Parts: sequence; structure tokens; C-alpha cells
Amino acid sequence: MSEVAKIELGGESYELPVITGSENEKAIDISKFRQETGYVTLDSGYKNTGATKSAITFLNGEEGILRYRGYPIEQLAENATFLEVAYLLLYGDLPNKDEYKLFESSINRHTLVHEDMKRFFEAYPSQAHPMGVLSSMICSLSTFYTESLDPYRSSDLKDLTIHRLIAKMPTLAAWAYKNSIRHPFIYPKNEYGYCENFLHMMYAMPTEDYKVDPIVSTALNKLLILHADHEQNCSTSTVRIVGSSQANLYATISAGISALWGPLHGGANQAVIEMLQQIHHDGGDVDKWVKKAKDKNDPFRLMGFGHRVYKNFDPRANIIKKSCDDVLNQMGINDPMLDIAKKLEKVALEDEYFKARNLYPNVDFYSGIIYKAIGIPTDMFTVMFAMGRLPGWISQWKEMLENNDPIGRPRQIYTGHKNRDYVKLEDR
Ligand code: ACO
Repeated sequence: MSEVAKIELGGESYELPVITGSENEKAIDISKFRQETGYVTLDSGYKNTGATKSAITFLNGEEGILRYRGYPIEQLAENATFLEVAYLLLYGDLPNKDEYKLFESSINRHTLVHEDMKRFFEAYPSQAHPMGVLSSMICSLSTFYTESLDPYRSSDLKDLTIHRLIAKMPTLAAWAYKNSIRHPFIYPKNEYGYCENFLHMMYAMPTEDYKVDPIVSTALNKLLILHADHEQNCSTSTVRIVGSSQANLYATISAGISALWGPLHGGANQAVIEMLQQIHHDGGDVDKWVKKAKDKNDPFRLMGFGHRVYKNFDPRANIIKKSCDDVLNQMGINDPMLDIAKKLEKVALEDEYFKARNLYPNVDFYSGIIYKAIGIPTDMFTVMFAMGRLPGWISQWKEMLENNDPIGRPRQIYTGHKNRDYVKLEDR
């Protein structure tokens, strides 16, 4: 007999079906609960609400497990290319050699952006944050590719839109940077791989080629893979909600980029490096800053610490910490930020406050140090995250369409005034 949950309400007993996932995750299905009882459930911040069924990413926060389509993140980060992972997320399985070649050449074919888009870039002030520029540029793609406006048109057209977006993301991201320093844009070179091409567009000059250092492109490949999906987080849920209205893919992803920008989400990688710099300039007294983070009257939080889902360790942080050591050693860089980060981690992990609340370094704690080492400017860190997360967002959007998920529309508990009559302005 299938499992059910029983609930007593106003002397009545109701039975709710229990849903079990492939990793034995359990959920109580409340989709008909309001219809049957008149009650809604309340869960601010969706801390305990499953918004969808999904076959893309499995994560277990207690055990620190993260898998894309069943493959452990550790194996993918060690062995795969970012495009292989993108294919895996999008289409459900790792590509064979032919499928990979086709996918890669399709991505390479679409890396250019329309020349008219260059004019948009030029209109932004040089101090514009590249996340604002990127989000607008991605949305603007919908105005050039109007066949994308109906996401249901055909699966070939859907694939074309997806490939275009993945292909143009590094070009738009690198151009947002070039524009901020008022340097000429560098066009993509299609013989390069995904990461190499991005680095080339970031650092080459019309007068000077840029020789891509394999240490740098390997580190970037790993970082992008580690960020590629993370199931129903803030930006992905945004993507699903926006996409559920049948908005086009470009507009949908643009919304995801905006959601990622905040310092409590993807913006944390920029916030971490700024925090480490602040601690460094303040004399490097780690204990003082840990004390500040624990003080409830002080708004300061240890950026890069804590996670909504991981309450033991973030498996991505473990991989990144090791990669951070490797990259800095290989490049012969001695960064005082890394020493402060390690000290901070040690002090916090031994502190009762952090232990009691299960606060551990998250993916963003060490990623900024690698980005800094490989020459990425601080305000581009969250753009790097967006580039990594892109295939995850698109896969979740694609799955939502394929499953015919309904439009996202939560309920609320109204706490405002009861009905009252309008009083004319002259009588108030
Ligand atoms: N520093 C100090 N205290 C913290 C921190 C922190 N970084 N994170 C959580 N806490 C404390 C809270 O004050 C709270 O304490 P209390 O129980 O005494 O009130 C307790 O730990 C639980 O924290 P919540 O904010 O309720 O946890 P939630 O799951 O809602 O938030 C979040 C998770 C947003 C990630 C939080 O830990 C945080 O703000 N961290 C810093 C920002 C950050 O690194 N964000 C990146 C997350 S990873 C990502 O999005 C890619």
C-alpha cells in the first residue's frame, strides 16, 4: 500500500499522498489540499517546499552530495569539459564522440553577436556593473531572434535558441568587461574551445594576441562545471517562474541573471573577495571579524559562509579549495587573501556559533581567489558564475516546458486591513 500522510483539521481527517523520488526523497503532495480543506501551507523563503519534480540534479545537503544526471560532481569536475557537462544537463546523458563534435561545432558557429548590439554596449557608462549589462544584453537577444518568442515552436528551433545563447554568453560577458575599460571588442575565434575563447575575448587586443595559459583555462573549465547547476535555488526558481509564463528563453535567463546578482546568492563571490580585502586592509585580525559576524546588532555576515541546503559541507567548496591551492602554486602566486581565507575558515569552523548553526564555507568562499589569480576583475566574478550556471538554467527551463508544468503562482496569507471605505482627499 502506498504511503499517505494524515492531517487533522477542524475535527476532520484528511489523507495526503506521499511522493518518493529516485533517491528516496519524500514529499507530501499538497497540490489539492486547498481545494479539499480551504487551507494553504505557509513556508516563507520556500525552505521546505518542493516546487517541481526534476531529473536533472540531485543534492543531499546533509551528506554533501551533488550529482548532475547521476554523475558525481567530483568526477565531472576532474574529467569533463564544460560543454560535455552542458550537453549532459540539457539532454540527459553524456554525449558520444559524434554528438559532442556536433554540439561543439554548433556552439562554435553561433559565437558572434549582431553588430548592432555593439551600439548598446557603447551607450552604457564605463562604471556600469557588468551584471546589469549582461542581463540587459541577454534579454536584447530576443529582439534579434524573434523566432525565439514562442518557446513551443519546434524542438529544432528551441535547440537553435539554446545553442545560440550558450555560444553568445562568453562573447557578451567578455564584451561587457572590454566596454567597462573602454577597450575595443575582440571577436571570438571559433577554433578555440569554450573557455579559451572567453579568455581570448577578455585579454587579447587588436594589436596583440593573447596566448591562453592551459593552467588558466583548466581552472576556468572546472569552476564553470562546479557552478553549472544546483537544482531549485533562487535564480533557477526565478528562471522557472518567469519561463512558466511562456516568456521567451532570453527574457527568462535575463531574469535568472538578475536574481543571481544579489550578495546572498551569486553576488557572494564578489562580496567574499571584498570582505577579505577589507580584513586585510584592517590589519588581518580574523578574530575581530568573526566576532562581528556573530554579533546580532552588527549587519556584517561572513560572506561565503552558510548555505540554505548544505548543512555539513559544500562538496563544491572542497574541490575549489584544492583547486585554489593548485592554481596559485602552479602560477607561483602568493596571495595574502588566501591566507586570510584559510585563517577565517579555521577560526569559524572551531567556533561554537558557526558549529551550532552548521555554517561552512560555500562554493563562493574560495572561487574569488582563483578568479583573481587568473586575472578576472572583481566585478566580473558574478558574471563568471552566470556563465557557469547558464546550462543549468536552460536545462531546468527545458524540463519545465517538456513536463508541461503549470504557471508558477504561489498563494499568500493576507495580513493587511480588512475592507474599508474610500475617503475623499478633501475630507482626509
Ligand atoms: N555569517 C554569520 N551568521 C550567519 C551566516 C553568515 N554567513 N549565515 C547564516 N548565519 C546565521 C544567521 O544569522 C542565523 O542565525 P540565528 O539562527 O541566530 O538567527 C542562522 O545562521 C541561520 O541563517 P539563515 O540566514 O536563517 O539561513 P538561510 O538558509 O536563510 O540563509 C544564506 C542561507 C543566505 C546563504 C546565509 O547563510 C548567508 O547570508 N550567507 C552569506 C552569503 C553567502 O555566502 N551567500 C552565498 C550562498 S551560496 C550561493 O548562493 C551560490
